[in-house]
Amino acid sequence: MALEGLEISVEADVPRQVLNTPGMLAPHDRNFLYGLTKDYYTGEGRIVDTGVFLGASTVCFGSGFIHSSVDTNSIATTRPIEAFELGLLNRGTAKFLHRKGISSYHEVGDCFLDLLRNNTAPVASYMNLNAGDICNYVWNTTHAIEILFLDVVNSMKTNKHVIDDYFPQLLPEKSFVIQKNYFVDSIPHTRVTQEFLAGCFEYLGGINSTAVFKLKSEIPRSDLNKAKNYNFCVEEELDLLSRCIDRAMDPVDKCVSAFVRLKVLVNIDRAKAKSEFDSIVKSYLHCNPTCCASNRVAAARISAEKAMTTVAVSEMQSRIVEI
Ligand SMILES: C[S@@+](CC[C@H](N)C(=O)[O-])C[C@H]1O[C@@H](n2cnc3c(N)ncnc32)[C@H](O)[C@@H]1O
Repeated sequence: MALEGLEISVEADVPRQVLNTPGMLAPHDRNFLYGLTKDYYTGEGRIVDTGVFLGASTVCFGSGFIHSSVDTNSIATTRPIEAFELGLLNRGTAKFLHRKGISSYHEVGDCFLDLLRNNTAPVASYMNLNAGDICNYVWNTTHAIEILFLDVVNSMKTNKHVIDDYFPQLLPEKSFVIQKNYFVDSIPHTRVTQEFLAGCFEYLGGINSTAVFKLKSEIPRSDLNKAKNYNFCVEEELDLLSRCIDRAMDPVDKCVSAFVRLKVLVNIDRAKAKSEFDSIVKSYLHCNPTCCASNRVAAARISAEKAMTTVAVSEMQSRIVEI
């Protein structure tokens, strides 16, 4: 696993529960979370695990902690992991349970916290499960955060909460921020704010579509405020999203990130967006993607096309009104 300054073997002999706990994480992600905690976690801060769904990441962190050399007597808490989960099935998670045949109930809106508690039982004594909307929790500012795993920042509101509550608690030269789905089609905000703060971070690399950062220096309060309030004009957004494209090493990640940027560009220059769309498609023809990567690109392409159509329709409507 090529991550700057970290030696984590993907073939590491990981405990079975790390690989077997149901969830959306790929084996590489699980290896990484386990290895990072086992070999690099010091116990100086908490591990914040967000949007844990069935608890796969929590089991990775917990197992890594059990096998780490951290002396539980020397750290501030015997429960270093704070896990956050809403606990109600949405369309994506219900579909996942259905596909995997995991549970007899899988209607949108159903509570799945019993499954989560059951799955995380092997590491239960090292974690606190914070059920419900993460935005309703207020972080204790005397607790530093050493590992911040983000798989929940799918809305402006959660992104704001994460920047406001967790980023100030990160420890310079020590804390890791793991942005799951950094190179996947979704809202651009996570990428815009992370790229804006990137000067304070070192980018260690990517695993699948996950981006791993380490905090280098304290983030100025004014920058945190700008990021939290999402105080960016479109040109800034575009510039920051270009940095995300540049950061991506994998051609598929680059392509997906370019489609995400295009959805912002189309709002100010539809003709330019159309020509960029064509060149993204053309450049992607040279890649030789796996099936999973093709699906990622297809989803991003469809959503970019949809954004372009929406803008075209609203332009047409406003012209009709003028006439
Ligand atoms: C993409 S899934 C996470 C997948 C999980 N990390 C895994 O690897 O299996 C996102 C999760 O975030 C949870 N979630 C979404 N919004 C939330 C919120 N506001 N507070 C807490 N959890 C939330 C969802 O219920 C869902 O389980």
